[in-house]
Amino acid sequence: MGIEGLKVDEINSKVAQYWSVSVTEETASTQIDLANNFLPGKVLIAEYQSAGRGRLDRKFEVPPRKGLTFSFCIAAQNNFGWIPLITGLAVSNAINKYAKRKLVSIKWPNDLLIDEKKLAGILSEKHGEGAIVGVGINIYQTQDELPIENAVSLSMLIDVDRSELMVLILNELGEALSNIDAYKNEYRDKCVTIGARIKAILPNGEVIEDEALGISDSGSLLTKTREISVGDIVHLR
Ligand code: BTN
Repeated sequence: MGIEGLKVDEINSKVAQYWSVSVTEETASTQIDLANNFLPGKVLIAEYQSAGRGRLDRKFEVPPRKGLTFSFCIAAQNNFGWIPLITGLAVSNAINKYAKRKLVSIKWPNDLLIDEKKLAGILSEKHGEGAIVGVGINIYQTQDELPIENAVSLSMLIDVDRSELMVLILNELGEALSNIDAYKNEYRDKCVTIGARIKAILPNGEVIEDEALGISDSGSLLTKTREISVGDIVHLR
């Protein structure tokens, strides 16, 4: 039997009123669709993206129905740098609640990891006064279907009903993104990067090896010698 499609009516009936969820069977990228049709609270989930985008113009590819790939619109925030971080926190909290154990950890700025393997990525883009945030979670891929060796899909660890998980994710997101300030310290506590030795590669090729000490008020990573903003990071180890 094939993978069951997402149940959009069930999702809409169970999420906080702020969200209005649509599901499309196929599109190029949900980020582009929402940029052409921006409305705060709108969520678009794609069962398949033919041109899914990752950070820094990378591709983000998931076979049909094997992931949870969605974007949402949020209204103006004076905390733009924190949006991807708090999104990561909310998505990881939702997955851990769903799993009933602490499976997922957060690596600054955007990656969700299980045992240091990538489970999900986040892309946050300014749109006028607001933002369009994209989330891609590996759910049912086999190891061969994952884009890199160092990645994992959630069904390798637990049984997943994507519609149920989506409801938990949107409810956590709604709560956290409407109270970003209240969640900053929880992010700082849970982010595994803080206190670790990091090797950061910047867009100009510069390599920084240092100890990560904290997250600034604007969401940048503070090392002993530098402040690295979310947009400035190509790779972090
Ligand atoms: C990354 O890890 O580099 C970020 C990945 C973000 C992928 C999501 S999937 C839904 C949304 N639509 C896209 O084209 N990209 C984001």
